[in-house]
Amino acid sequence: MDQLSGSVALVMTMGALHEGHLSLVRAAKEAADHVVVSVFVNPLQFGPDEDFDSYPRQLDADIALLDTVGVDLVFAPSESEMYPREPLIRIDPGPMATVYEGKTRPIHFAGVLQVVHKVLNLVRPDVAFFGQKDAQQLALIRTMVADLDMPVRIQAVPIKREESGLALSSRNAYLSEDEYIEALALNQALVLGKDAARHGASPVEVRDRATAYLDKAPGVKLDYLSVVDPETFEDLTEVGVPDHGRGLIITAAWVGSTRLIDNREVRFD
Ligand code: PAJ
Repeated sequence: MDQLSGSVALVMTMGALHEGHLSLVRAAKEAADHVVVSVFVNPLQFGPDEDFDSYPRQLDADIALLDTVGVDLVFAPSESEMYPREPLIRIDPGPMATVYEGKTRPIHFAGVLQVVHKVLNLVRPDVAFFGQKDAQQLALIRTMVADLDMPVRIQAVPIKREESGLALSSRNAYLSEDEYIEALALNQALVLGKDAARHGASPVEVRDRATAYLDKAPGVKLDYLSVVDPETFEDLTEVGVPDHGRGLIITAAWVGSTRLIDNREVRFD
């Protein structure tokens, strides 16, 4: 990117772009002179039983969509360009990658940090945008950038939701009509928890009320629901409310054969 003068913002994606991704692109355009969007379905972050092969790939449609917003460069490398051989040097994402998403998906965050580190090195942006939708990913990327002194600013973008409250996700495309309705319970449980916190409920009470709601929701099989520190992903029901007073209700659940994640910020004052 040496030939560009002015600031550069990066938005990393795996394609199958939707309004959630575009909200990152719009934020990037506000923040910098040039915007680079990467599109790469990163094999290293998918487990052997996960949806790497079936993950939606639609580069032409993605480029057309990005054209409507206007970006300077779409970086869509092939697998062999990104990984000419199995990488020998690996990022160790540490303990935060072993809980929640990392517990269900053991190699996931090591693969995410590997590719994020590589694409940051290739593009060398001043600022990179990531969605709060993937809150644990965001916390891990911030930690990597801090611990390795990487010369980039990380900017978070709020979750984009449909009017129904469902968080936009490329995986929503897997849902049948009935499953779509069932999936709304995730956000409803989070809203219930957030309201409880607003009325003075403790992290334990917030967790228990939101969990009870999802346990009763038809068609939903809960993976986890917890109230954590958004910076460290420590469980607030174990470590107590941090000085900054912020918490995050996080959940993952199966709706049919689709695994969805969602979260909402809460305050404990
Ligand atoms: P992907 O799932 O395509 O998401 C790309 C970016 O869009 C991430 O930062 C994600 O948090 C954000 N995003 C997705 N849905 C969103 C929504 N509804 N609202 C706001 N932001 C949303 O996350 C990845 O790809 C990959 O792990 C990646 C970082 C590209 C590394 O391969």
